[in-house]
Amino acid sequence: MKFRLCHLLLLFTFSASLHAVFGLNNEGVALLSLLRRWTSVPYSLRSGWNTSDSTPCNWVGIECDSKNNVVSFNLSSYAISGQLGPEIGHLRELEIIDLSSNDFSGNLPEALGNCSALKCLDLSCNRFTGQIPDNFKHLQFLSALVLNNNSLEGEIPESLFQIPGLQVVLLHFNYFNGSIPSNVCDMGEVELLWLSGNRLSGTIPESIGNCSKLQALLLFDNNLVGVLPESLNNLKNLIYLDLQNNSLTGSIPLNFRNCKDLKLLSLSYNNFSGEIPPELGNCKSLESLLLHTNQLEGRIPAELGLPEQLSRLNLSKNRLSGKIPPELGKCRSLEILNLWKNQLEGRIPDELGMLSNLRYLKLSSNNLSGEIPYIIL
Ligand SMILES: *[C@@H]1O[C@H](CO)[C@@H](O)[C@H](O)[C@H]1NC(C)=O
Ligand SMILES: *[C@@H]1O[C@H](CO)[C@@H](O)[C@H](O)[C@H]1NC(C)=O
Ligand SMILES: *[C@@H]1O[C@H](CO)[C@@H](O)[C@H](O)[C@H]1NC(C)=O
Ligand SMILES: *[C@@H]1O[C@H](CO)[C@@H](O)[C@H](O)[C@H]1NC(C)=O
Ligand SMILES: *[C@@H]1O[C@H](CO)[C@@H](O)[C@H](O)[C@H]1NC(C)=O
Ligand SMILES: *[C@@H]1O[C@H](CO)[C@@H](O)[C@H](O)[C@H]1NC(C)=O
Ligand SMILES: *[C@@H]1O[C@H](CO)[C@@H](O)[C@H](O)[C@H]1NC(C)=O
Ligand SMILES: *[C@@H]1O[C@H](CO)[C@@H](O)[C@H](O)[C@H]1NC(C)=O
Repeated sequence: MKFRLCHLLLLFTFSASLHAVFGLNNEGVALLSLLRRWTSVPYSLRSGWNTSDSTPCNWVGIECDSKNNVVSFNLSSYAISGQLGPEIGHLRELEIIDLSSNDFSGNLPEALGNCSALKCLDLSCNRFTGQIPDNFKHLQFLSALVLNNNSLEGEIPESLFQIPGLQVVLLHFNYFNGSIPSNVCDMGEVELLWLSGNRLSGTIPESIGNCSKLQALLLFDNNLVGVLPESLNNLKNLIYLDLQNNSLTGSIPLNFRNCKDLKLLSLSYNNFSGEIPPELGNCKSLESLLLHTNQLEGRIPAELGLPEQLSRLNLSKNRLSGKIPPELGKCRSLEILNLWKNQLEGRIPDELGMLSNLRYLKLSSNNLSGEIPYIIL
């Protein structure tokens, strides 16, 4: 009898201490373990993450579902520095992680791959280093992967593009190398592919034309080579195509039949040759056409006068010849017209005087002649 009482007492004290230490649920404990790795944390967070709570559901940056599972972890712009620990993997119901615009460093924890309900992972604008862990492929519900503006390196894992609903892929301004994975469009859901400012080499894969929902393809400031895949013609929903500052060659093999939403086309700082396709005039939404610093030749097509929203036209530093087409005077939205350093000849058309929004005009280093139209002066 005495033994049993003791035993009960022991049990009681044990469970009481359990309550004191583990009053906070596992997810709260995991969050506190994450916090301990941070060297700089704002006061609102340090004081607001209260160990006496039973759940972290009222903590700064945390949202839970009705069962008190943490579903959103958002500490964007909290000036936190330190590492992101593997304890993040204990938050199994997380759908949103937004730790963007802090000062996190170190590797991306492999344990992120355990947050299998994740839909949005935004770690942009930090100082993360190392590679994207291969087990990110386990994030089968991921729709947005936002890792831009870090110091990540290595190749972009092909396995990412086996995630069925991946729509937004922002990996720009890192140190990724290797090629653009050729399976990038296998799932066909990618809408925004922003890989600019890395060290990507190789060609733009022909399979890019399978990304039928693609709205933005931003690959500028890389080391891409080769010709443009003709399959780009299939991308009916494209709004932004920016391939500036690579080493792309060949002609511009696009028929511009499916370009009704295209607002930006930038192929500048490459080695494109051949003529400017007159079909660009079909792109009714075109706002910026930037083809400068290439080897383009032939005439400026009169059809460039057709897109009514065109506000930036830069064809400088090419080998364009012939006259400036008077039709350019129809681009009433034109603010910037730069035809510098070509081999254009003849008189500046009076029609350019109709460009009432023009605030930058550069025609020098050509072979223009005749009087400068009074209306421009
Ligand atoms: C933490 O919660 C306990 C109990 O609810 C409360 O007494 C205490 O003041 C809280 N601490 C902070 C820093 O808010
Ligand atoms: C995180 O919070 C910030 C500020 O409240 C908000 O602007 C941002 O959209 C949130 N992130 C996500 C992914 O919901
Ligand atoms: C992640 O899952 C793996 C396999 O299920 C497991 O071994 C590992 O401990 C988990 N890590 C975390 C931090 O939960
Ligand atoms: C990419 O960079 C890594 C180092 O981050 C290097 O080991 C690898 O060889 C590079 N791969 C290519 C294709 O350049
Ligand atoms: C993807 O594109 C390639 C090359 O353009 C083509 O051969 C392939 O059949 C396409 N795959 C799908 C699934 O559409
Ligand atoms: C081209 O990209 C490189 C980095 O890839 C950058 O250093 C350089 O300034 C860029 N050049 C132009 C003209 O934008
Ligand atoms: C472009 O081609 C010319 C010769 O055709 C070559 O000299 C130059 O290096 C090339 N530039 C780039 C950026 O590839
Ligand atoms: C410039 O035009 C004149 C005739 O207007 C022609 O004689 C000359 O060869 C041209 N120069 C160049 C570099 O095309």
